[in-house]
Amino acid sequence: MNEQVFEKFPELQTERLHLVRHELIHAPDMYELRIDESVVQFLDTHPPKGIADIEAKITENRSNFDDKKGITWIIKMKRSDEAIGYMGIWRIDKHNNRGELGYALKKQYWKKGIASEAAKAVINYGFLKMELHTIMANTNPLNVGSKSLLTKLGFIHEAHFRQDYYFNGKYLDSDIYGLIKEEWTHE
Ligand SMILES: CC(C)(COP(=O)(O)OP(=O)(O)OC[C@H]1O[C@@H](n2cnc3c(N)ncnc32)[C@H](O)[C@@H]1OP(=O)(O)O)[C@@H](O)C(=O)NCCC(=O)NCCS
Repeated sequence: MNEQVFEKFPELQTERLHLVRHELIHAPDMYELRIDESVVQFLDTHPPKGIADIEAKITENRSNFDDKKGITWIIKMKRSDEAIGYMGIWRIDKHNNRGELGYALKKQYWKKGIASEAAKAVINYGFLKMELHTIMANTNPLNVGSKSLLTKLGFIHEAHFRQDYYFNGKYLDSDIYGLIKEEWTHE
């Protein structure tokens, strides 16, 4: 991959959105997102115990960029300071030029095409600037919204892993989606 992308954080613009770096001022909005049961039900992560957990996550996100491990953007509507969600490419496998797409939006912003709009910009960045060859996504099989988004973007369902993820005392299945650079037509 092209590691020069880590020299300066790449803000992205779309028609309606501004994708920026995580800052500690985004903590209250990200807290609101992560304590909403309908948002986190398929993220299969524990809810934050308090704002300090969110601040730690923001610091971790910033370190991941500084350590050239991944890029996660805060999603904002243009002309608003509210952080309405996040999207990123992380778990970068540099040898194979492969990364994983992840995302979440506050519930009041669902089904308005916002994740699709952000994802087109992020995937373009992943293939054209980061020079990735494949982008994958891992979703809970019950997560209809996430699976619809990935299918609409052109991801192919490549695998179903049985009970590969241990969370809250249960082994959960995972659906694995993949997109190859040559297949990407949204440039
Ligand atoms: C997954 C998520 C980001 C989708 O965001 P979104 O902005 O609503 O997605 P879009 O509006 O761009 O929709 C993309 C497509 O998926 C469909 N879709 C979205 N949510 C859906 C749902 N709950 N059920 C059925 N279809 C859905 C849309 O209709 C659209 O298809 P269309 O253009 O053919 O109508 C959002 O539901 C979310 O934040 N969920 C909670 C966090 C999460 O699960 N993250 C993923 C972890 S793997």
